Amino acid sequence: MTRKKFLAGNWKMQKNRAEASEFFQSFTRILGNLSDVTRVVDIAFGVPATLFDVSVKCAMGSGVKILAQNVHFEKQGAFTGELSAGMLVDASLAGSIIGHSERRQYFAENDEAVGKKWNALALAGLLPVVCVGETKAEREHGKTNDIVTTQFEAALSQVSTEAKGKEFVVAYEPVWAIGTGLTATPEQAEDVHKMIRGLLAKHFGKERAEVTRILYGGSMNAANCAELLQKPNIDGGLVGGASLKPEDFSKMVQAAQNFH
Ligand code: 13P
Repeated sequence: MTRKKFLAGNWKMQKNRAEASEFFQSFTRILGNLSDVTRVVDIAFGVPATLFDVSVKCAMGSGVKILAQNVHFEKQGAFTGELSAGMLVDASLAGSIIGHSERRQYFAENDEAVGKKWNALALAGLLPVVCVGETKAEREHGKTNDIVTTQFEAALSQVSTEAKGKEFVVAYEPVWAIGTGLTATPEQAEDVHKMIRGLLAKHFGKERAEVTRILYGGSMNAANCAELLQKPNIDGGLVGGASLKPEDFSKMVQAAQNFH
């Protein structure tokens, strides 16, 4: 079973509208016809809300997906500063990153909220990119698999049967590897991805587990992505720093194309 590789950039709180537009121009110039590229590799960018419209416009017709970096699980109401899944649909987005460790750490996002967000996105027809991952201390105490399992299962407990039937992507992002230059070795990442694949099989059945993409995130770059992508259970990447420059990110897309 070959799963289509999926490379998603996470721009975090970076870039203005002019910079976003320049990025897409250069990215297209380097890679050529993006709709040919997205036939073999899925490409997405999680962008700040101020870049939704310019990014959607730049990506139009290319198959490149534009994602939010967060969503609220309620449909509407008095939630100052938040955006609903319906609003993301209205902005022509394809989905959202949820449960990123920076949101867990700085904005107290917990597994229950992540699950509700997953549910809301799926029911709105959007793609949830569900992030899980252990801290350095948790890894050192041998708790990686327990932590990732709990994060995934606690979130899943909030997802309705209908929402469970919709596509989602899992992103394994060890917290100690994010923005640190300390990438997990391909073997370390593969071990956890394989464990997650087992969790998917347990909760969704073998067939769904085989087609669901599991991305790696944490200091992934043009130099290390090929050896990560080569592992059987690593289906792509959620890329922070290296997704900001079109030269770097397009190299990663090119590397992913080789696995088609
Ligand atoms: P870096 O690629 O900058 O380590 O960030 C990873 C990440 O957090 C992607 O969501």
